[in-house]
Amino acid sequence: MRTLLLLLLFCHVSSPVLHSLKYFITGSTGIPNLPELVATLEVDELLVGSCDSNKRLEVKLDIVKLFLTMHPEQLEWYRQWCFHILPNSIKASTNSLMSLYNQSGGVHVLQEAGGCEWDDETEEVKGFVQFGYDGDDFLALDLNTLTWIALRPEADIAKPIWDADKNLIKEYKSALTQIFPELLKTYVKYGRSFPLITGRIT
Ligand SMILES: *[C@@H]1O[C@H](CO)[C@@H](O)[C@H](O)[C@H]1NC(C)=O
Repeated sequence: MRTLLLLLLFCHVSSPVLHSLKYFITGSTGIPNLPELVATLEVDELLVGSCDSNKRLEVKLDIVKLFLTMHPEQLEWYRQWCFHILPNSIKASTNSLMSLYNQSGGVHVLQEAGGCEWDDETEEVKGFVQFGYDGDDFLALDLNTLTWIALRPEADIAKPIWDADKNLIKEYKSALTQIFPELLKTYVKYGRSFPLITGRIT
């Protein structure tokens, strides 16, 4: 009990050492009036911004807004990612799952949650990505073995197909263990250099 209290006190007064960047993507087909893709990005549990396939992109966090006005090439990177790269890849994955499960139409939803954690004391970085299909957990990437883990029996037949796509796995590996951690460190350090801006990352 006493240890727990001390731990809580310690956690409270020390600045966070574990930082996180997480994205959430929902791709859907067959739902009228809903964009086929909606994506959000969070840093340290704060909403950075969101975008959708109707070419809407909103940056909510002031510190990142400021960063992007000074780094327009980064904003362009988000635009490309959200308006072109993501919709194409989510659509392709949804189509291939629908054909694998003999689903000729109807409403289908593919969700992706991924990102990384960075411990700014040990410098340890951990990446993760997981997919859900039609509301259930589906596949997660094991970054040590670079293979997919079926999260439910129905995903067993999709696993070997996803495992065979070595390029996709390579892209995830570089995004989750290099690109996103770099982005996370950039935002955290940038937040520290403008401590008076509201909506900051501590
Ligand atoms: C899809 O249909 C094919 C051909 O009818 C069948 O062999 C296969 O088992 C079906 N797949 C699923 C997941 O039901």
